[in-house]
This record gives sequence, C-alpha cells and structure tokens, in this order.
Amino acid sequence: MNSEKIEIFDTTLRDGEQVPGCKLNTKQKLIIAESLDKLGIDVIEAGFPVSSPGDFESVSEISKLVKNTKVCGLTRANKKDIDVAAEALKFAKRPRIHTGIGTSDSHIQYKFNSTREDILERAADAVKYAKSYVEDVEFYAEDAGRTDNAFLARVCEEVIKAGATVLNIPDTTGYCLPEEYGEKIKYLKENVKGIEKAIISCHCHNDLGLATANSIAGVINGARQIECTINGLGERAGNTALEEVVMILKQHRDLNLHTDINSRMLNEMSVMVSDLMGMPVQPNKAIVGANAFAHSSGIHQDGVIKNRETYEIIDPEEVGVNASSIILTARSGRSALAYRFKHIGYDITKNELDFLYSEFLKVADQKKEVKNDDLYMIMETCSRKIG
Ligand code: KIV
Ligand code: ZN
Repeated sequence: MNSEKIEIFDTTLRDGEQVPGCKLNTKQKLIIAESLDKLGIDVIEAGFPVSSPGDFESVSEISKLVKNTKVCGLTRANKKDIDVAAEALKFAKRPRIHTGIGTSDSHIQYKFNSTREDILERAADAVKYAKSYVEDVEFYAEDAGRTDNAFLARVCEEVIKAGATVLNIPDTTGYCLPEEYGEKIKYLKENVKGIEKAIISCHCHNDLGLATANSIAGVINGARQIECTINGLGERAGNTALEEVVMILKQHRDLNLHTDINSRMLNEMSVMVSDLMGMPVQPNKAIVGANAFAHSSGIHQDGVIKNRETYEIIDPEEVGVNASSIILTARSGRSALAYRFKHIGYDITKNELDFLYSEFLKVADQKKEVKNDDLYMIMETCSRKIG
C-alpha cells in the first residue's frame, strides 16, 4: 500500500509565540520562518495580523521571504480581521487565510451569547468572505474537542459549501482522549457531505499531556494535516510537538503515513527556537531533550555499548544529534567506564579496570556526573598508587 502524505502546519510563530515570555520581533520571526521553509514544512502560520501592527508586519515580511511553503494568517470570523489578513498576505506566493469561530455549547453560550444557527451562518459567511481574497481557506471550529459531533458535522458541511479547503478540528482545551478524538475525525469523514473536497486538520493542545497521541489518533482516522510547534510550545501546556509527530510517523512505517520533513534538522530547529524565544527545553523532552539519547544506568550503558538498538529506537543522527552519550554516574558500570577511558585514549586491562572502578565509585558518589577531567585525575591517582 502506498504511503500517504501528512501535511505539517507549523504554528510556532502564532500559537507558540502566544506563550508568555516567548514574544519575538520580526527579524527573529524571519530567521525561524526561513528555517521552517528549509525544514520542509507545508504551511507556516505566520501570525494573527489584526492583533498588532508588529504581527501584521511579521506576516507581511514572511510572505515576501518564504519561497516554497504556504503562508497562513489567523483571523476571527469577521470582515475586519479577514481584510487585514488578506492585506498582510498579499505578497505570499501561496497564501492561506485561517478563519473560524467557537462551536462548543460553552463557547456559543458564554463567549458569543448566541445560538447554533447564528454560529453556522457566521462560519459560512466568514469562509465566503475569505474566499473572495484567496483560494486556500482553512476553517477552525474552536473547541471542537468539546463540540457535539452532529453539530460539528453540520458546521463542516456548511463551510465546505462556502469553499473551505481545510477543516481544522481543534481540541482547544486539550480535553479529549485519543480514542475519542480519533472517533470524532472518523465521524466527520463518514457523516459530512462533501468531505472529499477538504482535508481534515488536527490541532491538539497538551493540557492532559495527550496532544501528540490525539494528533496521531486523528491521522490514523483520516485527518491529513497536523498543526504543531517546535518543542511543543503553545498556549498553557502547549501544542503538539512537531518533532514528536514527525518521528512517530517515521518510526511506525506500518501506519503508511509520511511527512516531507527533513528530520536531520530537528535538533538544530529546537535549539534555534529555544534560544530565540528564551524558552529552555526540558532535558527529558522526547526527541530533542538533552537526555533523549543519553544513557546513565549501568545496565543500559552495557547494552548500548554492545549494540545501540538495545535501548534506542531512533538513530540520533536521524534527528541531527551526532551520537548517543554515555553519562558516567554512580549508577554506571565497568563497561561504561572502560568505554569512556578508551574514548579519551586509555586502553586498560581487566585488572586495571577493577582498581580504577573502585576509585571511580568514590568520586561518583560525591558528584552528579563524572566528567573527563575527573577521569584524568582518577587515572593519575591510580597510577601513583600502583606505582
Ligand atoms: O486552539 C485553538 O483552537 C486555536 C485556534 C485559533 C485554531 O489555536
Ligand atoms: Zn491552539
């Protein structure tokens, strides 16, 4: 069976940049956008043009700069937002307007003090209006995760009739379980008339730590676009992490789904975004965390030294990390110590290793990690003792 492509929609510069403390200036956004283009992203959500003159400028400059990728601007479902987005996108080679409205009963009642019928009309009107500017219009049903499926299907049907090319089904509050989110996508595929004219997009937040799992459940059930951010940045607990979905689809070939992302750039992208936003990456973050390819317990180290695949499912080079690392701690064993001594130029015998290992443990019990400098010192002490 031929593998089907999943489009990657990056919203680091919009949803990611909404995070307190992550604000970027236009120059920094251009650096990131240029790299996203090289990374192989299908759509860059460059900002929310009506939100501020700075955001307008960024979307406009990114539109001029980017060569291959579609450039998208976010709007609410009103003419002013759409006019401003269309203006900001006017230089884009492949512009997309991303418009939408809340569809859950809670949004309809508390945010809009409105009715389902009114929301249906506003959704379709916004899409028609956006369509008067650009061919490619994505519609988001905000809080789709908590929206009744039958009503969500009606909304999707109306916006497809109005010309939407992409249907974004956000789990805005990160509430859904993977099975539930997958069922929602399946329900839409089976119950929305005209669904073959649009592609379904997953936009999952991470409030319960399920963003990646939900996005994968979405594509297994027929969605063909994932919205995500570098390092999983985004409102509150964040969005789906781009590096995670890309590597899941790469590792699980049985799913018959692929992306066009150059995974070898993932580590450098993560570092660049973290540096520019001043937002450190947690060391145990999947794929791009500092410990993602580091081994510190004796049993694991022994296995990895014998064959990397005993404890690693990804070759670090595939995500742009030079090599796995063996971290020496008080939990490390003799084979890891011998390996590191060899690495710094000492070929040691079994008897020497026994002696060095007992000295090593004394140092290791005093420190979080034993570095090369400590090893030189241990070697010197032992050489003196042995004579
Ligand atoms: O989380 C969400 O619902 C969003 C929409 C604006 C797409 O970010
Ligand atoms: Zn969002």
